[in-house]
Amino acid sequence: MSLVEYYDHLAKDGAYERAHNRPDRQAEIGILTERTQLLSRDRRTLELACGTGNWTKSLSVAARSVLAIDLSASALMLATARVNQPNTTFRLSDIFSLSEIDGNFEAIFAAFWWSHIPKERISAFVGSLLEKASVGANIFFIDNTIRDQGNRVFSHTDDFGNTYIDRKIPGGPSFRLLKNYPHETELRRAFSVTNGRFQFIELDHYWLAHFEFFDSPN
Ligand SMILES: C[S@@+](CC[C@H](N)C(=O)[O-])C[C@H]1O[C@@H](n2cnc3c(N)ncnc32)[C@H](O)[C@@H]1O
Repeated sequence: MSLVEYYDHLAKDGAYERAHNRPDRQAEIGILTERTQLLSRDRRTLELACGTGNWTKSLSVAARSVLAIDLSASALMLATARVNQPNTTFRLSDIFSLSEIDGNFEAIFAAFWWSHIPKERISAFVGSLLEKASVGANIFFIDNTIRDQGNRVFSHTDDFGNTYIDRKIPGGPSFRLLKNYPHETELRRAFSVTNGRFQFIELDHYWLAHFEFFDSPN
């Protein structure tokens, strides 16, 4: 089973919403929602891995326009029904083929995607992101802190240092999920290939990394 098939199951099961609406997380989700809206305000925004639209909803209120992509057809169907805004478009697209998307964006965002990028693909992924970013773009990511992992143990670590957790699919088999917990320095290093300002906010359960893209190196 692929990562997308795994998420397709979760979308049908309502798991995206359960994770987003956990009562003990709402204070942090509130801080991050505000930040997300600030960084996308009046901007042409690209959202990667939008899932069922948990974050698309608040982006669409702030941004000039939103193109939200995901590879799970089930998740996108729910997102489309949920976020019905004239400035927002959903598209079934692969994050690893961003060159197929037309135009440049003034804000690029993803929630809970960075942790699923194989470490050996990060450099190419960031390169493809920068190709889609206008000068001055806000590129920002939200994901889980290692503290949020609690005392659950990784089931496997591969040769690249990617960590995996075994997750049970509701009513189905178990899936070995790639889930990394990058340190701030790793994120900062990923964007050091170009000119810009990197900022990092670490809360209890979540972090937000923001890279303001100044210009290409040459
Ligand atoms: C953890 S979910 C995050 C969903 C949403 N951002 C949220 O916070 O509710 C990760 C999403 O990445 C999507 N995904 C996985 N691989 C992808 C790929 N190669 N291209 C596009 N989306 C992908 C999955 O379908 C899933 O919806």
